[in-house]
Amino acid sequence: MFSPGETLKMVANNPLYRGTMESRVVAVNRTSMIVTMPSRDGKPVFLPVGTIVRVQRGDAALEPPFQAEVLAREFKPVALLTITLPQAISRGGRSEPGGRGTRVIAVTSGKGGVGKTTLAINLAIALSRLQLRICLIDVDLGTANVDFLLRLNASYNLSHLLKGEKELKDIIVEGPEGLRIIPGAVGLADLANLSDWQYTRLIHAFNQLEQECDLLILDTGAGIAANVTNFLVAADTVLVVTTPDPHAILDAYALIKTLCSLKQNPNIKLIINRVESYEEENQVKRNLLNSCRSFLQQPIEYLGWVTESAHVTRSIRDITPFVISYPRSEAALCVAAIARKLAAVKPEAEREKEKGLRRFIDDLFGLLKKSALP
Ligand SMILES: Nc1ncnc2c1ncn2[C@@H]1O[C@H](COP(=O)(O)OP(=O)(O)OP(=O)(O)O)[C@@H](O)[C@H]1O
Ligand SMILES: [Mg+2]
Repeated sequence: MFSPGETLKMVANNPLYRGTMESRVVAVNRTSMIVTMPSRDGKPVFLPVGTIVRVQRGDAALEPPFQAEVLAREFKPVALLTITLPQAISRGGRSEPGGRGTRVIAVTSGKGGVGKTTLAINLAIALSRLQLRICLIDVDLGTANVDFLLRLNASYNLSHLLKGEKELKDIIVEGPEGLRIIPGAVGLADLANLSDWQYTRLIHAFNQLEQECDLLILDTGAGIAANVTNFLVAADTVLVVTTPDPHAILDAYALIKTLCSLKQNPNIKLIINRVESYEEENQVKRNLLNSCRSFLQQPIEYLGWVTESAHVTRSIRDITPFVISYPRSEAALCVAAIARKLAAVKPEAEREKEKGLRRFIDDLFGLLKKSALP
C-alpha cells in the first residue's frame, strides 16, 4: 500500500520520455493514486494520458516495480497525474472530471453573538430534511464551537488531512439527520502557508467532497477582518445574520458595505434573528434593505426571520438543535421556511460561473495569500 508523501521512482515505457523520474504520492484512492507531475533533474516531465510507467517506491530498491497507466493529468494550480494502482490497469477506473458543482454558503454577521452558529446548524438540518446533501464546516477561527453544540467528539480535523495522516473520510463526522461536519478548520487558517503538496491534498479532498455534497455551509466568525471576509468573498452566497439590536444592524450594514467593496455584485441574503414582533421585523428589514439599495446600490434578498425563543435557549442548554428537540416551535418553523427558500434556488443561478468547490478553494487560496502579504 502507498501512503501520501511517499516518494516514487518512475520510468516511462515511451522512448520520448527517457530516464528515471521522481514523483510523490498526493492521495491514494481505491484503484488509483494521485501523484505530483514526475520530474527529471528537477524539471517536470508532462507524461501524456495513456502512458505506461514502471513505478517503484523511492526508498525500496529491492521491491519489484509495478506497471501503472496514466489515467489523467492536470496542470492548475499544481501539475498532477492520476495513475493506476498495481493490478488496476483498466479504462474503467477513470473518474468523471468535475463534480455536480457544490454551492458554498457562508453564514456571517457584523456583530458577534447574533446567532450565526445556532442558525447554521439548525438550517443545515432543515436543508438535509429537504433531501439535500449538506456538509457544515466551522471556519470560525476564533471561537469554533460547532463541535461542542452538536456534541461531536471529533478526533481529527483538516490539519490531519493536510499533514497526510488522515483522508477526508476519516475527518468527516456524521451529525444528526445525515448532516456531515468537517470539524475545526485549523488547517484552513494556514492555507496561505501550505506547501504545493498540502495544497494538492486539500484540492483532492474538496474534489471528493464535491461528489458527495450539494451545499457546503460555512459557519464563519463575525466582523470585517480579512480572516472572515476571505471566506465571504470566495463563497457563492453570503447569509448575513443580524438581530434587531441597533449595534448589530449597523455592523451588518458595515459588513455588507465592506463585502461590496471587495467583490462585484456579491450574492447577499439577510436573516433577522431574535425578532420579538412583526413591527420590529418589518422595520429592521426595511431600514437595512433600503440603505443597501440607496447607499450601496446593492440589492439584498430578504430570506426571513427567526423569533426570539425560549426553545432556542433551552435547546442550547440541552446541546440539541431546536429543529430536532422542538420541531413544531415557532423558531423551528421559521428556520424550515428559510431552508425552503434557499433550497428553491436553482444551483446554476447562484453558483459562481466556474463552478464548485475547486473554484472556491482556488479563490480562497489567492485571497489568503494576498492578505498574508506584509
Ligand atoms: N432565536 C433565538 N432566541 C433566543 N436566543 C437565541 C436565538 N438565537 C441565538 N440565541 C442565543 O444567542 C447566543 C449566541 O448564539 P450563537 O453562538 O449561535 O451566536 P454566534 O453569532 O455564532 O456567536 P459568535 O459571534 O460568538 O460566533 C446563544 O447562546 C443563544 O442562546
Ligand atoms: Mg458562532
